[in-house]
Amino acid sequence: MNAETRIRVAFLTPEMAPLAKTGGLADVTGALPRYLARNPQLEVVAIMPLHREVRKKNFPLKTAFEHLTIDWPGSEKVFSVQEFQSEGFRVYLIDNPRLFDRDYLYSTPEGDYPDNGERFAFFSLAALETLRALSWKPDIIHAHDWQSALAFAYLRHRPAADGFFADTRLLFTIHNLAYQGLFPADLLGRVGLPRHLFNPEDLEFYGKVNFLKAGLLYSDAISTVSPTYSREIQTAEFGCGLEGVLRKRSDRLFGILNGIDYLEWNPETDPALPAHYSKGNLAGKSVCRLELLRYFNFQLDSNRPVVGMVSRLAGQKGFDLLAKSLDELLKKELYLVILGTGEIEIQNLLVEAQKKYPGRLGLKIAFDDRLARLIYAGSDFFLIPSRYEPCGLTQMYSLRYGTVPIVRSTGGLRDTVSEFNPSTLQGNGFLFQDYQTAPLVEAVSRALTFYRKEPFWSRLVANGLDSDFSWEKSAGDYFNLYRQMLSWPAARFS
Ligand code: ADP
Ligand code: GLC
Repeated sequence: MNAETRIRVAFLTPEMAPLAKTGGLADVTGALPRYLARNPQLEVVAIMPLHREVRKKNFPLKTAFEHLTIDWPGSEKVFSVQEFQSEGFRVYLIDNPRLFDRDYLYSTPEGDYPDNGERFAFFSLAALETLRALSWKPDIIHAHDWQSALAFAYLRHRPAADGFFADTRLLFTIHNLAYQGLFPADLLGRVGLPRHLFNPEDLEFYGKVNFLKAGLLYSDAISTVSPTYSREIQTAEFGCGLEGVLRKRSDRLFGILNGIDYLEWNPETDPALPAHYSKGNLAGKSVCRLELLRYFNFQLDSNRPVVGMVSRLAGQKGFDLLAKSLDELLKKELYLVILGTGEIEIQNLLVEAQKKYPGRLGLKIAFDDRLARLIYAGSDFFLIPSRYEPCGLTQMYSLRYGTVPIVRSTGGLRDTVSEFNPSTLQGNGFLFQDYQTAPLVEAVSRALTFYRKEPFWSRLVANGLDSDFSWEKSAGDYFNLYRQMLSWPAARFS
């Protein structure tokens, strides 16, 4: 297939592994374009901000454009663009040090950067300008989360006179509906958008400007990261106030389960692990377990099961429920290890808990990819008590590393973990439904009854190792969606 007939897809994302990462969004936007680009019918570029984290990691960057400008109210309208060659696709990084050369991507432990509205509006408009500067007309712009959503508002409501994007279709992916990008009404004027968009049919939302709404309203199609979450977000319980908007667009709303990168996350080769292992030979997993016990200064000769957690410390992830359940949980013969970073209140809550259960609860407040991998590999069980979970990747990493997930039955957790049935020996983990202490503790108890008990344990671990959540299938689903979108008439922004 020649270059002219390939479908051109431009990813717009605020973060991407390995360049800069706060959570699963980065894993997805790092891996999905790589798998899409293997399809000879697709050509992919990605655009993201040049965060300080990218510079600090010393990735080889080359200058694509030294000086581009956008039509922006006030003085700040200049940026440059750096280029990074990823596997099969190019990444363009929007460089504006005042906006993006910061310690964190979006927020410090004390809270969000106050100018996030300007920062990500600028990013969205600069991304469109970069495509134009490249003379690279996308067939599809595939934007991710609220930080990229305003691109669609600029396309619809400030269209370029030259019709550059006239045939472009817009796909918006919701990775997390709870993060909407809410800003005061006067923001629209400050980022060069018409003030009349501040009405409930457009971007107004309970007296604020809502960036995510631009993605939901002005896109040709919306996707989210698991089938269950695509249904949940159309209900008042999970819709975060946007369920009505989503229901109206339900014929254009698709649930495509995330994959994980089986090369990046592989216990047979992972350089972060002290020993490697595979389904055929799990000896290395015991070495990882020992190393994990050592890391947290636990007794090395112990047969107690290790329950791991790796998580952003955010309300979504169920730490309030965990805190309430700790007394019951830690009465059981187990170690709990937690790696996380995020909201200060949750950090404090966990630090207090650790003081209460010395030698039983291991806590590391940090963002540490190496330790995360040691926890996936060295734990016996992995706990995810999320209040809601659009997809969740950590349960898939656990399965991949032969660690048994215990999860709340919501969103993508429900689509990837199935309850182990001792009669049929089917199932790869344990689930609980109600967001309450008793069901959580019961699920952990159920899981513990099978710990190292044959023939159950080997099958349970093997079922996890056999679960297949590789990207190939999901990348194929996105490809089909792109093709479907191209069969629809273009909105013709001009
Ligand atoms: P979310 O995107 O909501 O945070 P996911 O389960 O989709 O949840 O993805 C979380 C990703 O972030 C995983 O790759 C996980 O390993 C990683 N992660 C989360 N917290 C940490 C941490 N403290 N240190 C290292 N990696 C982390
Ligand atoms: C979000 C969600 C998480 C999902 C990730 C990648 O951060 O919280 O559930 O796995 O995005 O799509």
